[in-house]
Amino acid sequence: MEKSPEQHKYKNSFLNWIEFRLPIVSYIEKEYKDYPMPKNCNYFWSFGALATILLVVLIVSGIFLAMNYTPHTDMAFDSVERIMRDVSYGWLLRYMHSNGSAFFFIVVYIHILRGMYYGSYKYPRELNWILGVFIYLLMMATSFLGYTLPWGQMSYWGATVITNLFSAIPLVGDGLKTWILGDYTVGNATLNRFFALHYVLPFVILGVVGLHVVAVHVHGSNNPAGIDIKSKGDTVSFFPYMIVKDTLAVCVCGVAISVIIFFGPNLMAEVDNYIPADPLVTPSHIVANWYLAPFYAILRAIPDKLGGVVLMFAAILILFVLPWLDTSKTKSCNYRPVYKWFMMLFFVNFFVLGYVGMKPAAGTYLLIARIGLVYYFVFLLILTPFIGKFEKPKKIPASISDILKDNNLSKSEHESGMH
Ligand code: HEM
Repeated sequence: MEKSPEQHKYKNSFLNWIEFRLPIVSYIEKEYKDYPMPKNCNYFWSFGALATILLVVLIVSGIFLAMNYTPHTDMAFDSVERIMRDVSYGWLLRYMHSNGSAFFFIVVYIHILRGMYYGSYKYPRELNWILGVFIYLLMMATSFLGYTLPWGQMSYWGATVITNLFSAIPLVGDGLKTWILGDYTVGNATLNRFFALHYVLPFVILGVVGLHVVAVHVHGSNNPAGIDIKSKGDTVSFFPYMIVKDTLAVCVCGVAISVIIFFGPNLMAEVDNYIPADPLVTPSHIVANWYLAPFYAILRAIPDKLGGVVLMFAAILILFVLPWLDTSKTKSCNYRPVYKWFMMLFFVNFFVLGYVGMKPAAGTYLLIARIGLVYYFVFLLILTPFIGKFEKPKKIPASISDILKDNNLSKSEHESGMH
């Protein structure tokens, strides 16, 4: 008997039924089973998957936390304490959420630095990078809003300091600040809207991540050599190779986060946030979330408030145009003998900026922040376009198979030398 069109593709009739009406089965098969992954990709290529899993953990734990949280200035702090003490496994939910967000930032920072080092932002992946920077902005906004919710001293004063920045904008600044707060100072209206936005933004992030991943798959993943894939021999299929590798990375990350949750859940927290918010007592020094600290350091490095705000936003927004600032045709820093070292210095500098961003903005810390700020912009605006024009890149092998052949050859030469 002739098969109907819906029975054709798969052995499983349920899958055929779905596929005939919505070709999602073949889409998943194409993108997550047969998808050709460059065969020299290292574990840095698992950080996108790690970030995706962490985003899901944050959303799920956040939904359960929201069921027990009260967004009111008189009750927010106590409702968080109740979650910690009385709600079944509430402590676990809260620590998963707070430490999960810290891990999320660590993973995404490594993901971004990987993209910068291997030149993944260049043609034809510019839009993929732009969507990434957009995600990063949304992440920063979401974490800032979330930090306000426990209504501790740092929540209150952090929100006060950051929203005050808007008042530096000429003419519209004060009005804008009041519009954001819903009041003249940080208060109940502020807490309510921050809660509403903190709930919704992660879903927006999830949507943008969807576009981001679709964009990666259009031209395929970059690789540590930054060379274009020319033949099927240069790739392996996503399943089982990448799935197994990503699963291992997720397990290692799961162990690391569990160690923090069970043995040091407050290592990355701020002690002052265990004191209920008090508008009459300013903490001796207001600290930013460590993952926002590099930009906080830039903000405070400038004596003028408006100047600081402009530079802080410029430091983030400049990343949008990185694909056009870099004039080199060579993608991977592995083949860029000069730029590679400036890139490494940029990473160290970013880390140092983060460190001084958590210290008082005075004396040596302030001096270091200013030097760090100068290097940040010099690297992106001057060194990146300039070095790209004059640097002589190393000879890039024609294909990934050639690189692997060379590696194996030098390994066996090394081994035969040892015998
Ligand atoms: C929620 C945060 C994010 C998630 C879940 C995410 C997810 C992913 C995934 C699954 C991939 C493919 C696998 C991989 O190459 O690792 C990827 C690739 C990529 N992502 Fe992200 N990403 C996030 C944030 C960012 C940010 C903030 C940037 C840059 C500012 C960025 C830039 C890139 C680039 C350039 C690629 C292509 C890499 C390549 O092919 O070599 N991503 N991302």
